Amino acid sequence: MALNLESLVTSLQSLYGEEIVAADIRAWCLMNNTHYHTVTSKITEFKVGRGKWNLKVVPREVNNIEKAYQAPAVVPPVEQNLTPAKNDTFVHFGPFNDIKTILKTSVFYPTFITGLSGNGKTFSVEQACAQLGRELIRVNITIETDEDDLIGGFRLVDGATVWHNGPVIEAMERGCVLLLDEIDLASNKILCLQPILEGNGIFLKKIGRFVSPEKGFNVIATANTKGKGSDDGRFIGTNVLNEAFLERFPVTFEQNYPSPAIEKRILGKVASVLGVTDTDFCQRLVDWGDIIRKTFYDGGIDEIISTRRLVHIVRAYSIFNNKAKAIEVCVNRFDDETKQSFLELYDKVDVEFEFEKVEDKVDEDN
Ligand SMILES: Nc1ncnc2c1ncn2[C@@H]1O[C@H](COP(=O)(O)OP(=O)(O)OP(=O)(O)O)[C@@H](O)[C@H]1O
Ligand SMILES: [Mg+2]
Repeated sequence: MALNLESLVTSLQSLYGEEIVAADIRAWCLMNNTHYHTVTSKITEFKVGRGKWNLKVVPREVNNIEKAYQAPAVVPPVEQNLTPAKNDTFVHFGPFNDIKTILKTSVFYPTFITGLSGNGKTFSVEQACAQLGRELIRVNITIETDEDDLIGGFRLVDGATVWHNGPVIEAMERGCVLLLDEIDLASNKILCLQPILEGNGIFLKKIGRFVSPEKGFNVIATANTKGKGSDDGRFIGTNVLNEAFLERFPVTFEQNYPSPAIEKRILGKVASVLGVTDTDFCQRLVDWGDIIRKTFYDGGIDEIISTRRLVHIVRAYSIFNNKAKAIEVCVNRFDDETKQSFLELYDKVDVEFEFEKVEDKVDEDN
C-alpha cells in the first residue's frame, strides 16, 4: 500500500492524538494491513524518543512557520519545478534562436514578440525555457488583469488577511522567465509593471517590503498586435498600450507563420506522435495553408489558417480517420463564405479529393 505522509499523519492523529507510541502504530497497522516498519520509516522526522512520536511540533513544521512569518505568504511556497517539459513535436524557426540567446545570457532584457494568432509565439518561449532548463511563469493577460493579480495582494486565510505573492514577484524572487502572454489585451492597469521593466526592484507598499529581481529574471511579452490596436477588427479586445510602457521593451521580434518546409516538419512530427502515417495528407495541408495565407495577404479572403489549426486538423484526422470530416469540422468555426473559400482552395491542392456534401452523406446512409 502506497502511504502518503500527510494522510498517514492525519489518520494517526485522529485516532491516537498527537503524542503516539509504538503500540498505537501497531494497532493502526493491524487495521490497515500495513507493516510496522513501513509506517515508522515514514514518520522518522516526528520521532521524539524510543518508541515515541510527536506528530505536532517537529523541526520541519517550525521552519515552515518561521518561513511563513518572514515572507508573509498565504502558504509557504510549494517546492515545485516550473521548468516546462520538452515537446517532441516542436520545430524551431523564426526568432526562436534569438530568444534562446537572450535567455541564455541571463541579462535582463524585456522582449516583445508580435505575430498573428497560432504561429507558435507562446510555444517557442515555452520550448526555449524547456531546452535551457529555465523556469517559466506564464501569465495570461486580460482586460481584467490588475496589480493584485500581477504583484500580489492580501488573501483571507483562517479569518486573517495575509499577503500572497503574485506571479511577477514569484518570478523575480526565483530569477525565472516571466511570460506576459497576450499583453495587448491589457488595460492601463498593467502600468504597475513599469519599474520592473526597467530592471529595478519594486517596493511592495502594502507590506512595506522591497523586492529585487534575482539574476536570471527576464520578461517576455507576446501579442497579436504591436500594442497599437487592431484596425481590421480581427483581434477584438486588443488595446492600445501606453507608449512609455512599450518603450521599456528594447527589442521586438516579428514572428511569421513557418515556411512550408518547416510547417511540413511540424505536421509530420504531430502525425507521428498521433500514429498518423499519411504523410501525403500533411503535405497537402501545408500547401493549402500556404495558398490560403498568400490569398489572405493579397486581400482575397478575410481569414487565415494558422499552424495551430493545421495541427487541429491532423488531430481530428487521427480521431475520425476521415480527411474531409477532419477539415470540415476544423473550418466550421469560420463564416460560411470563408469556409466555402477554404474548402474550394483545398480542392485545388488535392485534385483527386472531393468534399462529400453533408446532405449526400445523409441520403446515402438512408
Ligand atoms: N514551432 C512549432 N513547432 C511545433 N508546433 C508548433 C510550432 N509553432 C506552433 N505550433 C503548433 O501551433 C500551436 C499554437 O502555438 P502557440 O499557442 O504558441 O501560438 P501563438 O502564436 O502563441 O498563438 P496566439 O497568438 O493565439 O496566442 C501549438 O500548440 C503547436 O501545436
Ligand atoms: Mg499565445
